[in-house]
This record gives sequence, structure tokens and C-alpha cells, in this order.
Amino acid sequence: MKTDRRLIQLFTLALVGVATGCGTGLGQAGLGETLKQVFQDNFLIGTALSLDQINETDASTDSLIKHQFNAVTAENIMKAEIIHPEWDRFDFDAADRFVHYGRRNDMHIVGHTLIWHSQLPPFVTRITSADSLRQFMQHHIGTVAGRYADAVDGWDVVNEALNEDGSLRQSIFYNLLGEQYLIDAFKLAEQAAPSAELYYNDYNNEQPAKREGCIALIKKLQEAGARIDGVGIQGHWHAGRVPFEEIEKSIEAYAALGLKVMITELDLEVLPRNFQGADVGRRMDAKDPELNPYVNGLPDTVLQQQASDYEKLFSLFLKHQDKISRVTFWGVNDGQSWLNYWPVSGRTNYPLLFDRNNLPKEAFYRVIGTKKRSD
Ligand code: G3I
Repeated sequence: MKTDRRLIQLFTLALVGVATGCGTGLGQAGLGETLKQVFQDNFLIGTALSLDQINETDASTDSLIKHQFNAVTAENIMKAEIIHPEWDRFDFDAADRFVHYGRRNDMHIVGHTLIWHSQLPPFVTRITSADSLRQFMQHHIGTVAGRYADAVDGWDVVNEALNEDGSLRQSIFYNLLGEQYLIDAFKLAEQAAPSAELYYNDYNNEQPAKREGCIALIKKLQEAGARIDGVGIQGHWHAGRVPFEEIEKSIEAYAALGLKVMITELDLEVLPRNFQGADVGRRMDAKDPELNPYVNGLPDTVLQQQASDYEKLFSLFLKHQDKISRVTFWGVNDGQSWLNYWPVSGRTNYPLLFDRNNLPKEAFYRVIGTKKRSD
């Protein structure tokens, strides 16, 4: 089975190479069977873009992105520390290019993210008064969301405001403004970008306690008259330990609140880790070689486990396609995933559907297969 697929893949790539008249056909995995085409009647298929990808520096990766995905999220360049480095200075250079990229390629554009406790510019972390922080929020959200009001289709308005037990994180926003900051953030975003969808986004919010906290947060916004259109379940999971049942319960629970559900940062990592989630503040000791076991390639058992998990996930997403509007992967190929650098830097990780040469992995074919079986 595997050998057959590999042969078909090589044949396809040769065909594409001939058809395009260049050597960059690697981007067109499975001719005629791209993710965005296969799932076009079900949900958007997105990816997060790094600065290099926005700048189209690698032809093979660029081709892959344009063929496979119809939604893009800014992986880093719209975060406050980059787009708003000083109190009275914004840097829109990369964000403008990101938005143009999405528009040129007719993609759904997701802005990430307006209010997040992490990656804040130093001038914000030095703020000590509620008034100044409120002013920052007004200025930041008004300017950033306002600039892209006609271009960005949806904003992660608030990112990762919850602790694992469902309580609110003691971020600078919560500490100085209390839970009102959540309501203010959504109201400011709506004023600045009235036609954009507005989302709350978090990791581990499929886990029971955090899910309850997330539901309470959403209800608070709704009761306060703040518009919220969707909730993002990030989806940073581990191959072999994907919490399918909790994911299904969460999709149902969030949809029952009248919200669109999105899987916003999907990857299935394969390396050892002693905690779950994606808290960028947490790291592990880099010295232990057992933490980086697959430098020379991924064993077939692990590859198959990951493929099977991706297959089950997409079967679940298809089952709930009436509730899910978008599935976005956090990166394009294994080589550039953030999981090569976190929670241990310099590891060799394999979390996505495409390998380091932009070739489709077993998981890609299994994901495509879920759609065929559902027809
Ligand atoms: O651009 C600089 C480069 O100039 C410098 O040489 C290098 C040295 O470390 O750092 C580079 O910046 C890094 C940046 O990624 C771009 O690669 C930052 O250090 C690094 O902290 C940053 O990590 C990002 C992380 O968020 C923190 O912002 C990851 O790429 C990004 O994938 C990750 O994304 C988050 C989501 O926003 C929210 N949910 C969790 C998710 C994963 O942590």
C-alpha cells in the first residue's frame, strides 16, 4: 500500500513538473486532490504563514501553499510586539504584505492576534495604570483592526486568556482591568472592523475544566452585548494522545452557544513532552538527547500513528461540518514548524501533513481519504 502510494506520488510529481515546465511542481501534492478542493463544500483549509512564506522566498513552498490552502493566518507578524513596537509607532510593513498575499490569492484572511498576554512590546509590559492600559487597547485595536477593516475576514480578538482550570489568566490585562478587558476588546474590535468576524482562541479549551471556563467567558461576552462570532480550538495535540471525545464534546458545546467552531492551529507532534498544550512560556531541558529521538527520520510506526490520528480527526470534523467553518494547520511543512524550536530548541519534529521537501506524508492521503469515504 505504502509503496503503491509512493509510486503514484512520484508519477504525479513528474506529471506536474512537465505540466508546469519547471521544477517546482512539488507543491502540487496529489494532482487534482488538494486539501482546499477536497473539502471545499465542508470547511476552509488554512495554514499559518511565516514572514518568509509571505515574502514567497521558496518557490516549492509557495506553490504548495497556493495549491493546498484557501485560508491564511499570520503566524507572528500581527502580534503586538511586531506591529506596534512603541507607544506611538506602528510597523505595518509585514502585515500589509500578508494581507496583499491573501487577497491576491483569493484566500480567507485571519488576523492573529489583537490582545494576548505574550509577545507584548516592552512599553506595554511597563504599564502600571488601568487608564494607560485601556488607552493602549483603544489605540492598538482601533488602529490595527481599523487599518484592515476591509481586508481581514476574521480576528483572533483575544488569545489564551484562560488557565488550565478554567479561571482567567493573571495577565497584565486581567490584573489591571479585571474581566471587563475581554468585553472591551471585543467591543473595540467590532467598532474598528464591523464586518470582520470576531473570535476567542485558546489551546486545551477542549479539556473539561478549561472548556467550562471558555463557555463562561463566551457567555459573559454575549450577556454584555459584545459580538463574538466564533471560537478557536487551537489543536496543538500529540500523536497517540489526541483527546477525540473531548474534542467532539467541545465542538458541540461551543456550537450550542451559537458560535462557529474553528480548529485554528492544528499540528500533531511526535516528540516527547511532559505537559500538554502550547503555553509558549514553558520550556524543557534541552540537554537530554532522548528528547530528540528522530533526527534521522521518523519510524514507520510513529508515522502511521500520526496518519491514523489525522484521519480520525478529519472524520470527526466532517461529522460536524455544519458547526466547523475552518481547519487551519499551524505551519506548512515539518521543516518550518514552530515545534522544531519549542519547548526544546533545535529538535527535529514532524507535526504536519507535508515533509521537509514539501512532499505529502501518509497523513495527507488519509485526510483526503476521509472525504471520499464520507461521500
Ligand atoms: O524573528 C526572530 C529572529 O530575528 C531571531 O533571530 C530569533 C531568535 O530566537 O527569533 C525570531 O523570532 C521568533 C519568532 O517566533 C519567529 O520565528 C521568536 O523568538 C519566537 O518566540 C516566535 O515564536 C512564535 C511563538 O508563537 C511566540 O510568538 C512561533 O513562531 C509561533 O508559531 C507561536 O504561535 C503561537 C500562537 O501565536 C498562539 N498559540 C500558540 C502558538 C504556538 O506557540
